Amino acid sequence: MAKSEPRYVCQGCGALYRRWQGRCDDCGEWNMILLEAPRQVVPKGLSAGKGQVIGFSPLDHAESEAPRWLTGIGELDRVLGGGLVAGSAILIGGDPGIGKSTLLLQAVAELARKGVTCAYVSGEEATGQIAMRARRIGLQDSPVRLAAATNLRDIVTSLEAGGFPRVVVIDSIQTMFADNIESAPGTVAQVRAASQELIRLAKQEEMAVFLVGHVTKEGQIAGPRVVEHMVDTVLYFEGDRGHQFRILRAVKNRFGPTDEIGVFAMTDKGLSEVPNPSALFLGSRSGNVSGAAVFAGMEGTRPLLVEIQALVAPSSLGTPRRAVVGWDSGRLAMIIAVLEARCGVAIGMNDVYLNVAGGLRIGEPAADLAVAAALVSSLTDTPLPEETVVFGEISLAGEVRPVGQAEARLKEAAKLGFSQALVPAGLGQRQQPIRLAEFDRLTQLLDLFPDLTRRRN
Ligand code: TYD
Ligand code: MG
Repeated sequence: MAKSEPRYVCQGCGALYRRWQGRCDDCGEWNMILLEAPRQVVPKGLSAGKGQVIGFSPLDHAESEAPRWLTGIGELDRVLGGGLVAGSAILIGGDPGIGKSTLLLQAVAELARKGVTCAYVSGEEATGQIAMRARRIGLQDSPVRLAAATNLRDIVTSLEAGGFPRVVVIDSIQTMFADNIESAPGTVAQVRAASQELIRLAKQEEMAVFLVGHVTKEGQIAGPRVVEHMVDTVLYFEGDRGHQFRILRAVKNRFGPTDEIGVFAMTDKGLSEVPNPSALFLGSRSGNVSGAAVFAGMEGTRPLLVEIQALVAPSSLGTPRRAVVGWDSGRLAMIIAVLEARCGVAIGMNDVYLNVAGGLRIGEPAADLAVAAALVSSLTDTPLPEETVVFGEISLAGEVRPVGQAEARLKEAAKLGFSQALVPAGLGQRQQPIRLAEFDRLTQLLDLFPDLTRRRN
């Protein structure tokens, strides 16, 4: 894009346009596209011989690993890939009120108690407010340096004046203001400039910098999307505010795996770790009811048992309703289609509601079989056999496919007192901790429901 042309930037995702338009083609948001002052573009005619020579190194170039600090909050450390890396920038996103500030305050308080210098800069709350929260959750004796500020220049100057701390929390990046940029705080230009400066400082001073980012759908405030590309690690803190559970998920991590989750519970004493989430997610189960199936899932390296609930009810609408919470709606449509087309189960004309209990979001196709079992169980009003877990992927042809880490899933189920598992065929060749019912095809699962009337194909 030439220098003189106006730039329109989507405040949600950072997409660029030549003209204003109401809806962003990239992220689909409305009224997020604003005119931005043109940025300096690289001058024409960069010719060889004018820059500095960069040293190239071989692939086996050994560089000593950056030190890591354990925050002492096990769930957070695991999601970070084994602690906090010096010189790294971490974005932590999530809805307002989900607990980002609480989590980071707890993390820096623990670190500071262990002698790691930490600063917490809030652009949203007064220091008194934060101190009050710290007192409430019993962290007031921790030597965290606390400040309420939004001017980036002041913040950087103050950090330097006191000697750069090892860990800095910026809460939130949308409230920060770099005075060399004209736009208002929260616009893409500001968020980008402030992040860039803080990340540069993190690398230069070997600090770990946490950037808090609000995810919001409303007008002017920039989503932290533009920052995602710039930082080393992106964590999302999610959960249903009506529920106590909070799930911390790594969606990008240059220093560890991205499939780990950390599970927390919000209590009146702050966030507490949930080292055995299966027990918690299944805790509120009320006996064997129809339409419920316990899925033996995996979240990263950890098995996690959750209940999948389905409600299938005759529809009064021309187009039946489908509502899904915690799972992919496209995947649900597929399972319904396979039940219809491959197994002759007339389910498509019903309203179908699917819910993953406890506010968890499942991404694994391994949940297919549990979803199918819950659907048919609700359709026939027949509970699944007692003390039973389910897992397996379903193909479009109606086959039940094996999934990874079956042994870990079965072990977790046995540990929690389940006695039977409905699984893909092939697992029974080896000794397993619980009784197995194996299935090659989805139709075989339907034999568990004698009341099911099926169409003859
Ligand atoms: P907060 O960390 O301020 O959320 P965020 O920074 O993501 O906006 O958390 C706010 C919510 O957490 C608030 O609704 C109150 C609740 N909370 C508790 O239930 N117990 C606690 O000990 C604390 C500190 C907060
Ligand atoms: Mg906050």
